[in-house]
Amino acid sequence: MISSTQQRVVGKPLDRIDGPKKVTGTATYAFEHSLDEVTYAFPVQSTIAKGRIVSVDTSAAQAIAGVITVLTHENAPRLKSQNEGELAVLQSAAVAYRGQFVALVVAETLEVARQAADAVLVRYEEQPHSVVLRIDSSDLYKPGKVNPNYETDTTSGDVEAALARASVSIDHTYTTPAYHNNPLEPHATIARWSSDGVTLYDSNQGSHMIRDTVARVFGLEPERVRVISPYVGGAFGSKGTAHPHVILTVMAAQVVGRPVKFALARQHMFAVAGYRTPTIQRIRLGADSDGRLTAIAHDVVEQTSTLQEFAEQTAVVTRMMYAAPNRSTTHRLARLDVPTPAWMRAPGECPGMFALESAMDELAIACGLDPIELRIRNEPTVDPETGHPFSSRGLVACLREGARRFDWQSRNPQPGMRADGRWLIGTGVAASTYPTRRRPSTAIARVDREGRYDVLIDAADIGNGAWTVLTQIAADALDVPLERVHLEIGDTRLPRASLAGGSMGTASWGTAIVEAARKLRDRLQEEHNVIPADGLEATGEGGEFLEARRFSMHAFGAQFAEVRVNRDSGEVRVPRLLGVFAVGRIMNAKLARSQLLGGMTMGLSMALHEESVMDPRFGDYVNDDFAEYHIATNADVGTIDVSWIDEDDPYVNPMGAKGIGEIGIVGTAAAIANAVYHATGIRVRDLPITLDKLLS
Ligand code: MOS
Repeated sequence: MISSTQQRVVGKPLDRIDGPKKVTGTATYAFEHSLDEVTYAFPVQSTIAKGRIVSVDTSAAQAIAGVITVLTHENAPRLKSQNEGELAVLQSAAVAYRGQFVALVVAETLEVARQAADAVLVRYEEQPHSVVLRIDSSDLYKPGKVNPNYETDTTSGDVEAALARASVSIDHTYTTPAYHNNPLEPHATIARWSSDGVTLYDSNQGSHMIRDTVARVFGLEPERVRVISPYVGGAFGSKGTAHPHVILTVMAAQVVGRPVKFALARQHMFAVAGYRTPTIQRIRLGADSDGRLTAIAHDVVEQTSTLQEFAEQTAVVTRMMYAAPNRSTTHRLARLDVPTPAWMRAPGECPGMFALESAMDELAIACGLDPIELRIRNEPTVDPETGHPFSSRGLVACLREGARRFDWQSRNPQPGMRADGRWLIGTGVAASTYPTRRRPSTAIARVDREGRYDVLIDAADIGNGAWTVLTQIAADALDVPLERVHLEIGDTRLPRASLAGGSMGTASWGTAIVEAARKLRDRLQEEHNVIPADGLEATGEGGEFLEARRFSMHAFGAQFAEVRVNRDSGEVRVPRLLGVFAVGRIMNAKLARSQLLGGMTMGLSMALHEESVMDPRFGDYVNDDFAEYHIATNADVGTIDVSWIDEDDPYVNPMGAKGIGEIGIVGTAAAIANAVYHATGIRVRDLPITLDKLLS
């Protein structure tokens, strides 16, 4: 651990050190890099959900002044690797989903490229498609693993027998719709080839990961691919893997021999940048008369595409949340003619905890128990799945602190008892959790004769504050003032680091930085604290996460919501959210609060507003812009009270930090649904909670 005497800036609510650059427009985002001779790309998307391209007529497009080329499956270069699912762009005439890229125009200006894309005439041979997830889909199958590498199904004890014997049981099905990631900055890539290989300016969650993918797909040595990504305007998982536009941009730049810029339009993002799978989740809970769980079963049905498998780990969270001797979880997938789902903030935990925490509320009511007391009674002493002790588990502390702050004790558990005019008022609670992970990363720390420290690591700041937090961690670990530390991130020329995903960026990168700093200080000491003329340098590697083999490591939280439901219109308002989190040591109080606040806001949005609507006739998500895909705005958000408890976990990493990027969204929707039930007596088990569901 960094001893607390050394902690001078870690924990402080420092402003973002990249803030001035961002507000003055000098932080250069991917699309903003200016390159000589640059060209612009605009795609043509399939208008059928399944079938084959019969012909592509590009003559009208080619005739437009300023058009350089039109790539189609007929003239596009063959990729080195064909086994690439979504990434095998323009490699065949097959169409696997509506919105798939079927051609790409490259032109002197973006306007010409877009106009020419409209002029490309594609004729198809259409086949019947299947695009709607149903619990009784005929082709449901069991994936080999679920994201990122969990067992698909688990079972222990005898759930059926325990349910049959239980004093109290519930059996309900919860559904969540598809949701689309909508970071403010759309996905964007620039590619430029030279004799050294290809350089990409790309908006992503990890440049090394994009480099690996491009190198594999094009059959290049990784050293011949450089990816630069210093600033990223949000991602939420959608920039955690390379999407087809990255491959198309590199391909197009190779063909035209000039740099190519390609930014997705907002509408494209609804087809080609991943999304959260819709889920159908059956939860069965059995309890004895004291409310002690005897059985937990969580069975999930969700979708993937025909191009590649993405199996979200929706029921995995149920394996460790509560103690019960008999447990089972399953995941089944429908392979549909749809785009491939992918990561979206807390994949698995987020939809899974909507179902589990709604069910726990229903069980509390069935048992006549307070929902907080029910959770406390079912608190496990060790991880129920692995038998490992928890490195720290702050759920009960969060529930108790949240209850105190929220004034939970004055609540009348009876639904529909509070009103203010035509508004019914209710309150709800739900638990929150997210795994604490760490991946190997490498950092270099350097000092020169003038006492300037450089810290180099290919970390990604996706809006989370990595520029600031990593500088804070480095300053304390080097035991120097913040101003003397110069951080470099977002470039594959820097040492390899894990991606900004799975809420493990700070833990992974910080561990490497702390080690590099420790080695550099050791070397300085060997030099009797005299810096040699050519400076000193040390490399830190996170190394294997051995503690994770002995301990179950998770962050926890408690989410509270107050809602108002209009008796006449069914409108739901959320005047108050309150979250208390146990997330290890806080690295920067201001940025941490922003992460948790953002997660809770996104959870509110998930509960009430967001829904990607599939049109079964055509096979695409139709509400593909901000006019129709509703995201909570300021007017939708009331007071959000974010706090955390002190948690000292010596096992997670040298900083004692647990990830905070995703936990904020987990449980929020259940807290709101539980509050809506408390206000109205109506249990909404299918998100989002729209007014039609409250007027019946
Ligand atoms: Mo997060 S959805 O793991 O980038």
